[in-house]
This record gives sequence, structure tokens and C-alpha cells, in this order.
Amino acid sequence: MGPSSTTDKPAEPANQANGSQLLCCKSIDKLIAEADRPEHRLRKTLGPWSLTALGIGAIIGSGIFVLTGTAAAGEHFAVPSILHAQVLDLVINFLRTGSTAGALMHGRPPAGPSIAISFLLVAVACSFAGLCYAELASMIPIAGSAYTYSYATLGEIFAWVIGWDLILEYVVSNVAVAVGFSGYSKAQLAVFGIHLPDKWSSPVWASGGWTGAYFNLPGFLIVFILTLLLVRGVRESAEANNVMVLIKIGAILTFLVVGGTLVHKANWVPFAPSGFAGVLTGGAIVFFTYIGFDSVSTAAEECEKPQRDLPFGIIASLIVCTVLYVGVAIVLLGMLKYTTFVSGEAAEAPVAYALKVLGAHLVFRSVIVLGALMGMISSILVFQYGQARIWYAMSRDGLLPKLFSAVHPKFKTPHWSTWIACFAVGIPAGLVDIGDAADLSNIGTLFAFVLVSLGVIFLRRKQPDRPRAFRVPFVPWFPLISVILCGGLMTGLTVITWLRFVVWLAIGLLIYVFYSRKHSEFAKNQA
Ligand code: ALA
Repeated sequence: MGPSSTTDKPAEPANQANGSQLLCCKSIDKLIAEADRPEHRLRKTLGPWSLTALGIGAIIGSGIFVLTGTAAAGEHFAVPSILHAQVLDLVINFLRTGSTAGALMHGRPPAGPSIAISFLLVAVACSFAGLCYAELASMIPIAGSAYTYSYATLGEIFAWVIGWDLILEYVVSNVAVAVGFSGYSKAQLAVFGIHLPDKWSSPVWASGGWTGAYFNLPGFLIVFILTLLLVRGVRESAEANNVMVLIKIGAILTFLVVGGTLVHKANWVPFAPSGFAGVLTGGAIVFFTYIGFDSVSTAAEECEKPQRDLPFGIIASLIVCTVLYVGVAIVLLGMLKYTTFVSGEAAEAPVAYALKVLGAHLVFRSVIVLGALMGMISSILVFQYGQARIWYAMSRDGLLPKLFSAVHPKFKTPHWSTWIACFAVGIPAGLVDIGDAADLSNIGTLFAFVLVSLGVIFLRRKQPDRPRAFRVPFVPWFPLISVILCGGLMTGLTVITWLRFVVWLAIGLLIYVFYSRKHSEFAKNQA
């Protein structure tokens, strides 16, 4: 074990619920006091604009560059299966006819250009969830995001479930982004005449079979290099992130201008080939592109004025990304017919493909792809940062081994958590295809949003007088709208995604029962 300074005098838990450890809630005052203990204290270096950049850095990753085309084009499996059916479609068919036979089992309906509406709808859902995050983040300015909020509001078991669930949001989505980085960087190096050997730059397992490749090295390497940066400290990482954010916004604006000149209006017709069904299922997929705005709240302990800066950072980063995403969707779907993006290169790299086939200049194409790569780098950076902070907080509460909350004596970062997150993402990124990682990540994140929104309502009732630097208007209606919208998007996902999610939660519960429940601060207190 490296130099660590974990505490050997854990803080006393508070608010122990009568009898049941499962529903014990941490006191918010204790949480804040505990985070302020010198051995746990992180450097406070982030202001409102750094937080906004942190948010944009996490939000714009590979999703906008990879998923926009496929979400618009839909998906068609040759063999029908209930596993490919959307949960909402099954439920509606069952309620209407008493049977699920009429549900679409061949895949997803295409959204077409109406994917732009999906982006707007998802942004609305995220805004309501974002307001709830902002309220909790500004009253509980502690590392750990939704995990910490649920520990203070819903109880230990919910905190564990959500902490475990957040691994889907952070680790699984970063696996997808790192694999996307590998594909794009390989393609761009080929444009420069550098051809990476396939055996060392492709997934080992893809489309349900071995590919013959040894390891997808670029995906692993980018995560490894960023970990070196993160372990050195948040100041350096945030500065590097600011630069990358400017570059990727510049690249997207370049695409909007260059692509805008190549639009053929006829491609926007029909606008919504599958009506609302296409908009909803498209939204459930492109939700991935918004994942990340909540990671701003994981930086609560490292910002200068969390009460003022956190809500600002969350909402500002959402607004900027929505404008850019809707623009990209409208331009891309105006450049080529949505049916083009159904498979092959057009599906894997729709933006680069559209520019190539419509004859955009090589310089513009390279600028845009390099910007996209920057987008992926800053997304990976922020998610690795967030995951390490969540493990750090869970370890501080005894739900994970103490190693996870060790703070580096010089850099004051949770270095062990950061390295473990490196290998948890880097190794799968070297092995698997993007596959269903995005969908799995979506369902986990939406579930976290639902719990956070419920947490706001609970806490308003339980602790109405506690100061809140930011208050969600119209409680309980706004949080309830968030629950309905996020829950609605969850039902747009397929049965197989739901099954995987349930298995993931079941594994987490086993770990809780056999380890965390016995080691948590509440358990020690009871003993
Ligand atoms: N929102 C991130 C992306 O689109 C995860 O890559």
C-alpha cells in the first residue's frame, strides 16, 4: 500500500434510525464536519466557470459524435425477440390487448430528423433532475454526488444501491467513451498515414464473438495517461479540461458552419417517420449524450463557494450542451437522409462520414475529428474524477475498504481510488466493443436521477428549515416531473437492458449484505 492517511478514528454516525441499520441516515451536519477533518480535506480550487467547464467536459463525449446517427436511423434485428422490445411498448400493448404480441420485437423505430426533438425533451428531463441535484448539492456540499445525498435522506441501503448504481454511470459509460476514442483516433491516424495494427487497436470481443485481436491499446492508454494527470491534482486537471472544452466547442461550431453549407432541405422530410414512438426511443438512447452534468456535484468539496457555484455549473453546462446538440442533430440530418446512418462507417462515425461523402475539405474534417477526440478525452477525465470521489465517500462511510479513501500526502487526491478506477475502465475498454454499454449506463443514470428527485421531496419534509442556497421551485411538482420524465425515458429502453440492470443491482446487494453492512460506520456504532 502506498502512502495513505486514512483516518483511524472514524467520525461518529448520526441520526441512527430506531432499530434498522438499513434506513439509518447520515446527519448533514456530521457529513460536512467529517469532510472538514484535516486528513480528509481536499483542495478547494474550483470556481463557477471551472465547474461549468467540468460539466461540459463530462457531457460532450463520444455520444453526440456516435449515437446521433444510429438513434435517428433506428435499429433492425433479423430475429425478433422480446429482449429487443421496449418496456413501454410492451406495457402499452399489454394494457390495450391483454397480450404483448403486438409490441415491436425487431428493434427500435427510427426517429429521423425528429431526433432534434428527442434532444430537447431529454434536456428538459435533465433540467428538472439538474435542479434537484443542484438543491441537494448546494445544501450537502460533500464529495460523492447522489450517493451522499441519498445517505443523508433515504438511508444506508439506498445510499449503497445508488453508489453501486453510479458505477454504471461512471465506469460503464467511460468504457464506451474510451472504446469510441480508440475507433476515432485510429481512423484519424490513418488519415495522417499512420496505420495502427488491428490486433492492438480493436476490441477483443465484439458482436457476441472473439475478433482475434489481443487488446485495444489506445482505449486503455488514454485512461492510463489521464489517471496520471488526475492523481497529480485537481488544479492541473481542471486547467487541462478548460482547454479541451474550448477546443471541442470550437470543433462543434466548425461542424455547424461547414455542415450547414452542405444541408439539403429535402433530407428533413419526413421529419418524424415514427411519430412519438421514434422520439421517445431516440431520446432513451441520446440520453447518453447528456450524462455527466451531475458529475459537477461530485466536486462539491473542491469548490470555492459550493452554495453559489454548483447550481450555476450544472444549469449552465446543460444549456450550452443542449444548444450544441440540437444544432448538430439538425445539421447532420439535413446533410444526409437519416436512413444512411443505419450501419457501417456511417453508423460508427456519422459526423466524419457525412463530411467525407459530401466532399468537405480535409482540413475541416481533421479539425472536427480532432475536436471530437478532445471531447472524449475531457469526458473520460471528468468521469474518472467523479468515480474516484464517489468511492472515496463510500469508503469514508465504511461501505468500501479504507484504501478507497486514502488521500495522497502531497497531491491531496484520493490516489488509490483514482488508480482503481483507471483499471476498472481501462481493462474492459481494451477488451469489449461499445455494444450495449451506453444503454446500461443510461438506465443506471436515470435510476439515480429518480432517487435524487425523490430525495429532494423527502428532505423538504424531514428538514424544512435547513438553509438551501438553491431551492427547486414548486416542490413537490418539479421533482415529481423529473421522476416521471426520467422514469419515462427508462421505459424507452429494452428488456435486455432492464435485465442487465437488475442483475447488476442484485450483485451489489450481495456485496452489501456480506461486506458493507458489517463494516459501515453505523454497524460499528451498533457493535
Ligand atoms: N455524455 C457523455 C458522452 O456523450 C457520456 O459521451
